[in-house]
Amino acid sequence: MADGRIAVIGTGYVGLTSGACLASLGHQVVCGDVDATKVAAMSRGEVPILEPGLDELVQEGLASGNLTFIHGAAAAAAGAKYIFLCLPTPDGGDGRADLRIVHDVVAEIGPILDAGAILVTKSTVPVGTAQDITTTVNRPDVAVVSNPEFLQEGTAVRNFMNPDRIVVGSTDRSAAVAVAELYAPLRAPAVVTSPESSELIKYAANAFLAMKLSFINSIGALAETVGADVAEIANGMGYDERIGPKFLKTGPGWGGSCFPKDTRALATIAADHHVSFPLLEATYTSNDDAQDRVADKIRAAAGGSLAGVKIALWGLTFKAGTDDLRDSPALAVARRLAAEGAVLHGYDPAITKDLVAGKDRPDVVVAPDAYTAAVDAAVLVVLTEWPIFAQLDLVKTAGVMAGRIIVDGRNVIDTATAAVAGFSLVPLGRPAHWVGEAATV
Ligand code: UDX
Repeated sequence: MADGRIAVIGTGYVGLTSGACLASLGHQVVCGDVDATKVAAMSRGEVPILEPGLDELVQEGLASGNLTFIHGAAAAAAGAKYIFLCLPTPDGGDGRADLRIVHDVVAEIGPILDAGAILVTKSTVPVGTAQDITTTVNRPDVAVVSNPEFLQEGTAVRNFMNPDRIVVGSTDRSAAVAVAELYAPLRAPAVVTSPESSELIKYAANAFLAMKLSFINSIGALAETVGADVAEIANGMGYDERIGPKFLKTGPGWGGSCFPKDTRALATIAADHHVSFPLLEATYTSNDDAQDRVADKIRAAAGGSLAGVKIALWGLTFKAGTDDLRDSPALAVARRLAAEGAVLHGYDPAITKDLVAGKDRPDVVVAPDAYTAAVDAAVLVVLTEWPIFAQLDLVKTAGVMAGRIIVDGRNVIDTATAAVAGFSLVPLGRPAHWVGEAATV
């Protein structure tokens, strides 16, 4: 086991997951946060986010003493060998990440760090941040290492424990290798790079995945018009090892707290360095197109006008398995419907409160169950791929609705079951008359 205590500064989604997982690998981890109330709650074993497996790891860490929580960055960093910075880097409004919190914390803790301490940036930060932090900390005896995370919400613990690779970038190679060794029990390949490469790997990976999704969504649009099935195409493409079968499910666009922000940030980085990168622009304009196409289908299903029409939305979160509504494609579609006067009622297994209109969402009355959301609706729309939606009673659903049409934005509803219940099913990426199983790729 590597020698030296780990401090994790910031106990948001990335920090808390990383801290609890590192503690479970046998490291001594102290997590610091500015929010004293949250620190007190976590010290009592209360986990503030929904993430499978995290609760158990926090309880284990607290019980073994490997995991503790403390108020304040300096209190956590004092005496630590590794200081993981897991701080918010919000969009500064111009497509660039706002790094003020990171630099303020580094300025605060810099003077109290032990000689030989290693500052580790875990949040997604622009190229050059590791070097900027080196300047801010201004201590030759403290190294800075970029170590981006690749966690997906809803499977973050599993992703942490089974990484495809560990990326560490630094001008101090031995510091980078020391950080990689913290993950040694996970037996993942270590990619040791310059700090700039490490920082770009994170953006490049996320933008590439977003591009892959935009690509398959456009193939889906084409498939519909030529009478092909996007799931069959994805299956056929996915066997090519250079392409791979993952991230080829069509949907109402991609979203979440990372892809939109990171794709735009990479476009800004490219523009700032006068590098032409039109694929990035196309990646997010294609995403708008994907959302428009689903909204178009819903309008058509409603008979051409949405004014005053009640639409039932199954799924509101940005993907299944999370309660996160940030940059949700479901809400992007819902916004388009509301703008044309639709009345929206929704159901989502992870959402209990009504949504109130804001810059990223319309008003949505949130029902306690899927059937209540569908009462008197003209059109039922599936927007998030919760597996439960495939198991609901469509005969019962048809019984409460005013209309008999489902727009399936995730291809989770079985065509034959829908037909038996009397529904017309409008799928995505294949012609509406398609008869077959729900997509399996
Ligand atoms: C993403 C990256 O995958 C992760 O590596 C990074 O650390 C953070 O950002 P996350 O935001 O949790 O993770 O979401 P992800 O599971 O990647 O899904 C992103 C969006 O793509 C969702 O809206 C999802 O519904 C959509 N998606 C994903 C599809 O439409 N089809 C697919 O086949 C896969």
